[in-house]
Amino acid sequence: MKHLLSMKNLQINEIETLLERALEFQQGAVSTLKNNFSIANLFFEPSTRTKMSFEMAERKLGLHVLPFDASTSSTIKGETLSDTVKTLEAIGVDAVVIRHKQDGYYNELLSGINLAIINGGDGSGQHPTQSLLDLYTIKEEFGKFKNLHITMVGDISHSRVAKSNAEALTKLGAHVTFLCPPQWQGDFASTSSWDEILPTTDVVMLLRVQHERHDSEMSFSKEQYHEEFGLTRERYEQLKQSAIIMHPAPFNRDVEIASELVESEKSRIFRQMHNGVYIRMAVLETVLKERK
Ligand code: CP
Repeated sequence: MKHLLSMKNLQINEIETLLERALEFQQGAVSTLKNNFSIANLFFEPSTRTKMSFEMAERKLGLHVLPFDASTSSTIKGETLSDTVKTLEAIGVDAVVIRHKQDGYYNELLSGINLAIINGGDGSGQHPTQSLLDLYTIKEEFGKFKNLHITMVGDISHSRVAKSNAEALTKLGAHVTFLCPPQWQGDFASTSSWDEILPTTDVVMLLRVQHERHDSEMSFSKEQYHEEFGLTRERYEQLKQSAIIMHPAPFNRDVEIASELVESEKSRIFRQMHNGVYIRMAVLETVLKERK
């Protein structure tokens, strides 16, 4: 694996290998990488989890992490993303993690560069490491994917997490359904109501309402959204005993999820964040191993 750009590019055996390696890291394995690789995290959109979790993973692997701040970089003076990446390669950086608002930004970077690119989220496109940590969390809970019922709820069309996970979970044999307002359905067919999914679903995957990617007429009031599509206490009580709740976060309390449920018994939201460090260690090690 030279780069990690999209879940579309990952075969089932590659996903399984990454999940197994993440588990080894969680159980205390030490990386076999030589400690002389340099990496930079290029975040052109806000992030807490992905950026900090990559930094934690990089430090645990003993990598040299070069600080990069988009707001004080020469991109402000008009330098293109491609020229920024080529500049980092020229000064000796081995890999970059990039988050950018443009869907598929990486397509224009791939020719003429040698360093590895790990996609930390492209617009409404893909978020492969979030998907991998979600898969890891589901496997940790159920030990399998086949025939699990996964329901994604919310802003599907703007969600790179939904697209990455729908791709991967279907490939792995899970049944994926969607519940969302018609204007946020995109290419996915939505079920009509919570009542249809509550008795059978194993995983409720809540998605953030992405106001920053909406036209104003697309939006709901917080109360309206919560009433129709939010996970309320009443809905929570109708879930199967074994069901779990996930959310990639950041979450909007009392919009996608009732505030009191964020750390409820079925919630794995902070567990997802914890697992993300081991997944990112596995991804970084795999990509950097290709460089020798
Ligand atoms: N889940 C996720 O991508 O969170 P951040 O935007 O904080 O990185």
